[in-house]
Amino acid sequence: MTVFSFARKIGDALYREWGEINFDVISFPSLAYNSITSSKPETEINVFDIPFSLLRVNQIPKQRVNNGSLFGQPPLTLYVAEDKRFFIEIYLWSSVDMTIHDHPFSGAFTVLEGVCQHDSYLFERSGGSNQLQMGSLIFKETELMSKGDCRMIFNGDRLIHRNLHLSKPTVTFIIRTYRDLGLTGRIYEESGLAIAPDLTIAEQKFLDYLDGVLRLNNYDTALRMIQSLISSGFSDFAKYHSAKVYLEQTRRYNEVESISDMLASSIPDVTSDFFRKTFLLQIEPILSGESYTTY
Ligand SMILES: [Fe+2]
Repeated sequence: MTVFSFARKIGDALYREWGEINFDVISFPSLAYNSITSSKPETEINVFDIPFSLLRVNQIPKQRVNNGSLFGQPPLTLYVAEDKRFFIEIYLWSSVDMTIHDHPFSGAFTVLEGVCQHDSYLFERSGGSNQLQMGSLIFKETELMSKGDCRMIFNGDRLIHRNLHLSKPTVTFIIRTYRDLGLTGRIYEESGLAIAPDLTIAEQKFLDYLDGVLRLNNYDTALRMIQSLISSGFSDFAKYHSAKVYLEQTRRYNEVESISDMLASSIPDVTSDFFRKTFLLQIEPILSGESYTTY
């Protein structure tokens, strides 16, 4: 059995089972969890067999394109349910993703290979704008997950977590919905800034140009771009994110204060102090010589 036929078998069964309860989203995490724990993909799938399977299949399911970002190195969509109700994916990891986030979807995930450190958090909102919420991020618990361990994913802020891939390789497997109604998904900074990372196509393209200019070390043009952006009608997230990228790439930390003031003058719901605290906490691992982006 190929990895695709395995996914089709469990996907078709899950589709039928979920259909019997009228595709009730609330029930999906436990159904996905049961599907994984009863079919045991960790005993059925060897990720390094997959490239050889690809040589033998004529067609594979439609792959997702996620704003150009590569979640997994590589990701692979194994199954897409009828009407795009849910999908099944497998990820081979060679990097550690430190991002604390919640999910605009429901499902369950498991570890097929390796060990992960699974940290979870609570968020208490105290203010901010719709896209940039201010609050407290409270560490809840940590656990080590290894081969065969499975956890449910609840949409919204009921599950705020990060899953650090400690071993090389780490392989994970997920069954999830696409996007549950009315949810966007947030990224949480350690400062307590909760971000809805939604960009229009024009905003994304602006950030692509900012990246291009920074790669050319043209820092003064980059700063002018950010100054213009901050006084424009672009979203709060586009403004914050451009400042974050600028500081990360240029390491002009002496500008944290002025950039925080600029942002706060354009986004009055978030204080300058809060932006400053957010940027300074992002800088900390760099200053202490730690880098978690790759290993
Ligand atoms: Fe997640």
